[in-house]
Amino acid sequence: MCGIIGYVGDQAALDVALNGLRRLEYRGYDSSGVAVVGAGALRTARRAGKLSNLEKLLAENPDSRPMPGTTGMGHTRWATHGGPTDANAHPHTDCTGAIAVIHNGIIENFAALRVELETVGHELASETDTEVVAHLLEVELAGTGTGTGTGAGAGAGADRGYDGGAHPLTVALRRVCRRLEGAFTLVVLHRDFPEVVVGARRNSPLVVGLGQGETFLASDVSAFIAHTREALEIGQDQVVEARRDGATVTDFGGQIIEGRRYHVDWDASAAEKGGYPYFMLKEISEQPTALADTLRGRLSADGAIVLDEERLSGQDFRDVDKVFIVACGTAYHAGLIAKYAIEHWTRLPCEVEMASEFRYRDPVLDRSTLVIAISQSGETLDTLMAVKHAREQKARVLAICNTNGSTIPRESDAVLYTRCGPEVGVASTKTFLGQVAACLLVGLFLAQVRGVLYGDEVAAYVERLQRMPELIERTLGTVEPVRELARALADAKAVLFLGRHVGYPVALEGALKLKELAYMHAEGFPAGELKHGPIALIEPGLPVFVVVPSPRGRANLHGKIVSNIQEVRARGARTIVIAEESDTAVEPFADHLIRVPATASLFAPLVTTLPLQVFACELALARGLDVDQPRNLAKSVTVE
Ligand code: F6R
Repeated sequence: MCGIIGYVGDQAALDVALNGLRRLEYRGYDSSGVAVVGAGALRTARRAGKLSNLEKLLAENPDSRPMPGTTGMGHTRWATHGGPTDANAHPHTDCTGAIAVIHNGIIENFAALRVELETVGHELASETDTEVVAHLLEVELAGTGTGTGTGAGAGAGADRGYDGGAHPLTVALRRVCRRLEGAFTLVVLHRDFPEVVVGARRNSPLVVGLGQGETFLASDVSAFIAHTREALEIGQDQVVEARRDGATVTDFGGQIIEGRRYHVDWDASAAEKGGYPYFMLKEISEQPTALADTLRGRLSADGAIVLDEERLSGQDFRDVDKVFIVACGTAYHAGLIAKYAIEHWTRLPCEVEMASEFRYRDPVLDRSTLVIAISQSGETLDTLMAVKHAREQKARVLAICNTNGSTIPRESDAVLYTRCGPEVGVASTKTFLGQVAACLLVGLFLAQVRGVLYGDEVAAYVERLQRMPELIERTLGTVEPVRELARALADAKAVLFLGRHVGYPVALEGALKLKELAYMHAEGFPAGELKHGPIALIEPGLPVFVVVPSPRGRANLHGKIVSNIQEVRARGARTIVIAEESDTAVEPFADHLIRVPATASLFAPLVTTLPLQVFACELALARGLDVDQPRNLAKSVTVE
């Protein structure tokens, strides 16, 4: 949510910032802006709407190099405080125009700070929470005698001026951060200090890219991956001073911190479209590889599951007496699937909770509770807050995450990475499959360490899981009729999705994809629940997807869902049935039949989800929509 890039080096900062923003735009596209320090001036440009609007503005400038300088920054916004207007676009500046600030997050006490600043004569030009930071910095720098401010010293603690040899802009930012409440990543520039770009973070992402004679600050590594793959983590409540020759990290009090350095194991091409018109299409096609990478190396030679990044002991897992899964959106749907597997394999009770609700209902947690937090980005604030709450209550937290070095894994006791590579399309596709597979591994791992399943049973499941990438490949090879159907239904008013057992979360996921990509009313229901109300929605011609469990499955679920198909069809619905290749029983009742390969019941979502992703994507394209950047959304949601 909001993309940030900061740069200091030898290249033209404007180019670096714009290239970075192109890779970050998926984080928000309500407005964008840049600031560059050079030739004794701080220049900014910003525009409401997509990045292309800003690029147009810059191209219209008659001067071919409108913003000279090798220190700069860029921002792409997902609006929180203040609508998506030019005036609310970042960067924001102070009264003197010497300081520029970009921000991701929400400064919760901004109203009080704004009143305080206005009382001493500051005029704020936007409705944003961010702008107060530029003015507070102005006050701080004026107080140290190093700035150009109005001299209205707000004060933020005991220290004044240089501390620990740090740059005055760094000192000022630390002091300002100590006054801020809420979540923020900040990057700041000063007209008189082209030698530094300074950043800070609390509950919102910021990572440093360490190049040769150049340093980057960014919301995520994709912004600088074309320049360097050496990264440095910035932890909670830390400030980073980036210079050409590297970066110094301190806490908000000025204490030096040794950040964790790491090498990014994917390159720039992984974050490019690779010949596809949309990232989403590329990411759908990457699912066999994404799944294979998630599973790679998880089974030892003696048939035991190895979760190599977990930092909890076997005894910790044996002590578990209940499991909670917390997640949002698509990740929550992965969690719903996990519940079926974990309870079936481990016999432990498992609850799945929307992360945004978790801590507010006072769940019963203790040392024997395992909380599994699922998050592609590792930055979703609702999930992060659920993790923090769980740990405060002494529960053990295992994160399932796709983003190395992100906040949720760092705040958890253990982590299992999904290794799906960067996902740029705002709608999750390949990482959903990765999350489902990782959850299945955790379920099997728990069953293994707790002795509920025998080693050979676990190994047999993992071997079947390892065959799934091939089945996914096969399924993706047969989805052309789904595309045709999506084009034919482009004008539909609504679509329903029904499923039973693990097919129910798949139905929810199919509906979510359609809502977010095609802006179409879509609902997912357990097929058995239909008769308790939703069946009233059925009217002639309404498209209804039904995710059918295997005919070989338990408790005659298959027979029951075949009855449900007949019930909706009898009321005029147009039935679109997703069923196993050998399932002939559904044929008489399916207006459209989508075949998927036979799998173990618990693994079926890894194939049944695919036609639903393709359907939503194609229908949105048929409606002329941008599937990578659906309206009002952002990839990483760092506000509550
Ligand atoms: C939907 C989608 C969102 C995310 C949700 C959680 O396609 O992508 O619903 O799943 O915002 O995001 P992460 O997994 O980053 O915590």
